[in-house]
Parts: sequence; C-alpha cells; structure tokens
Amino acid sequence: MKRFLINGPNKGVKGEVNVSGAKNSCLPLMAASILFKKKVILRNVPFVKDVLTMKDLLISLGSKVELIKEKKIIKITNNKKHKLIVPYNLVSTMRAGVLTMGPLLARYPKSKIRVALGGGCALGIRDTSWHLSGFKSLGADNTLKRGYVNIYSKNGLKGNVFKFPKVTVTGSSNLIMASVLIKGEHIIKNISIEPEVKDLIKFLNNSGAQIKFIGKRSIKIQGVKEFINGDHTIIGDRIEAFSYLCVAAITNGRIKVKKIDPKYLNAELRILKKIGYKIETNANSIMVSPGKKTKPTSIKTGPWPQFATDNMPIILAVLTKVSGKSVIEEKIFSNRFMAVPELKRMGAKISIKKNKAFIIGQKKLNAADCISSDLRTTFSIILGAISAEGSSTISRIYHGLRGYENLQIKLKKLGIKIKLKK
Ligand code: EPU
Repeated sequence: MKRFLINGPNKGVKGEVNVSGAKNSCLPLMAASILFKKKVILRNVPFVKDVLTMKDLLISLGSKVELIKEKKIIKITNNKKHKLIVPYNLVSTMRAGVLTMGPLLARYPKSKIRVALGGGCALGIRDTSWHLSGFKSLGADNTLKRGYVNIYSKNGLKGNVFKFPKVTVTGSSNLIMASVLIKGEHIIKNISIEPEVKDLIKFLNNSGAQIKFIGKRSIKIQGVKEFINGDHTIIGDRIEAFSYLCVAAITNGRIKVKKIDPKYLNAELRILKKIGYKIETNANSIMVSPGKKTKPTSIKTGPWPQFATDNMPIILAVLTKVSGKSVIEEKIFSNRFMAVPELKRMGAKISIKKNKAFIIGQKKLNAADCISSDLRTTFSIILGAISAEGSSTISRIYHGLRGYENLQIKLKKLGIKIKLKK
C-alpha cells in the first residue's frame, strides 16, 4: 500500500502554490450536467479521485464523459435517457454520489429513481433525510427498499416553500437542482451559502435558470423549461488553499497561494492573524508569513461564513506548535478529531472532551508512523510530519488523494522532503 515518507523538521518553508479548482464545487456541477440536454463544459477541474468516481457514476447512468486533463477540462454530454439507478458501490466510496438525486428527479420527475443510501462515513452519521424532505416539498415521495431509496412523484414536481431545519451543503445543492425545471416557483429557506453552492447557482443561472436570493439564506426558484448547453469555470479550492497556508504557519515560513479569492477564507484568515501570522491578500491570492509572536486561540466551526469544519483538522495541527492552550469546538460533525491520536503519537498534547479539543502547544514534535483515516486528516498528519523531527511515514494516503490534486508534487515544489513509498 502506498505511503508517504516525510523528513522533518522543515523550517521556514517558502514558495508559491497554484490552488486547484474546488472539489466540492466540481462534484455538484458534474451532477448538474444531468439537467442538460446537450454538452456541459467544466473548466479548472481538479483531477482528484472523487472527481474520477463521479465520472464513473455519470458513465454508469449513461452520460458521455470526456476528460482533457492537460487543459483541466471535463466535457459531459447527456443526450440519451439515463439509467435511473445509482449503485451502492459508487455511493459508498464517495458520499457526494447522492448529488445525482436532485438532477435525476428534475429531469425524470414521474419515473422511479433508485439511489443507494451511503450509510455512515468516517466523519460520523451522514444522513440524507433533509434532502428527501426537500424533495417531498416538491411533491416527490420516497420509500426505502433493500438500502435503496426510491424517489418518485406521481403528478410531477410543483413549487412550494421549504425550510431546511439546519444548514446542509449537499442538501441545498440537491434541492436547488431538483427545483430548477419545476412548474411554478419554489422558495427554499435556510440554504447553505458556501462558495461552492453559490458557484452552482451561478452556473445554473448563466445557463438559463431563474434562481434569486430573497434573503441571506433564502432563494426563489422560478422553474424553466430546459437547459441546453453549459460552460463554467470552477472556483478555487478554499480548503486546499488554507492547507498550504498552514504549511507556512507551522514552519514559520512564507507561502503565497494563488488562484483563490481571499474572501472565501475570511474566518480562517482572521484566526491566522489572531494567532500572530502576517496575512497579505490580493484579488486572487493570499500570502502568510511570520509575525512577531504567536499566541493560542479559540475556534468554533460552523457553516460558511464561519470557520469551515474541513479546515479544522488543518489548524488543529498548527496549534500543536503554538505555545499556550488553544480550544477548538467542532459544531458540524460528530467524529472529526481523527487526526488527534496520530498527532499525539508525534508528541502533541491534545485532550478531547465531547466536541471540544484542548491543545497545549509544544516546542517540538517527533516523527512517528501514522495512519490516515479521512481526507482532511491526511493533511493534518502531513503538517505534523513536516514540522516533526525525524522521518515519519503516513499510510492510507488514498484518503488524501480523494481531494488534494498533485499533493506530493505541490509539497515537493515547496521544498518539503517527501517521498512516495510503495
Ligand atoms: N445532516 C443531517 N441530515 C441531512 C443532511 C445533513 O443530519 O439530511 C447533518 C450532517 O450529519 C452534518 C451536518 O448536517 O452534521 C452538515 O452536513 P452537510 O449536509 O452540510 O454535509 P455534506 O453536504 O454531506 C459537505 C462537504 C463536506 C463538508 C460538509 C460541511 C461536499 C461534497 N462535501 O458535506 O466536505 O465537510 O459539507 O461543510 O460538498 C470534504 O471535502 O472533506 C468534506 C467532507
């Protein structure tokens, strides 16, 4: 099994990183292609494992998918009737497979759509009941049979009003996609306003949809007849951008991330500043460099514009090296501290009580052999290994490759001593 070997400590890491397109934008945009009768072109595509799994899923549904890796482009054509079954093997390897429910329902409202339920995942229970309640508000019922949810609407979809009980990112995207071809007008309240959801709305509106914000978290969708062609450039990945900024933070270095809008990371940059790092931003880039002194901090995760749960394991690693006691409260997922046991094996002092982590910053971490258990945990452990003294190994790195494009190449370019071991 492939492992990373990282030699540390890497100090004062300097350089520039070109941020890839956002995985969590690309996946719903690929699913949205199902709504279109002809060709959809997506640009700035990150060729990570999850995107390839979504490609396989679309092909299994009957889409034609063309990858042009060197140009970062995917072309998807949906001019044939789709198969209406989303198989378990694809949803279980990538939960975002559920994002095909909304567009399939929109395009085939009176047919039965069968989608495998993903079950739990490394982050805790991953429910889709709010997605299904949203579809119900449009007139689509569902039943559960042998682990598959069957979704259908006897009389077609009709506009209504629906409020999500709490913010859900893929739930919002799914219901938006289900609503764009309905008869009449659908109002959705308490939607996610994550940059990736706004990217989906922008793509759909530029392709002829009529989606309007009527409040901070409320939208009105006027159904349209059809979508024909689509062409869209995916926004930069804010989680990847923050991950590389934290390579500078943990090594007291200076890194500029390019091709990213700094406003996607307002909450995270405020925290880095509070800790004591110097932040400089331009329209499409962010640079972190050492400040005078660092101090501990407290962080609470939440839906955008709050500190992203995906960036939490990343800052957690940085705080293991910031003198004093920091506190992190995780408000989104029940099991998001999986990096903690691995970082502790490097000598980090962290204790967990319920959804809070208490971190006592240390002067030094020591190398260890570690195992990664999910996507963001991988980068958290990488950060530990980069700053630890000695040679660390990280196994199960396939988790990291689900969402970080050219991970090893980008780290190597920054001068990190990293090798891939088979
Ligand atoms: N939830 C429910 N019921 C539902 C839907 C959600 O209880 O029907 C709960 C979840 O269990 C969780 C909370 O609501 O406690 C928020 O979950 P959300 O639905 O927003 O998460 P998601 O849409 O499944 C996306 C990202 C995740 C990211 C979360 C939170 C994609 C493909 N995935 O997941 O990204 O952590 O939003 O921001 O966009 C990652 O990239 O590593 C990743 C896990």
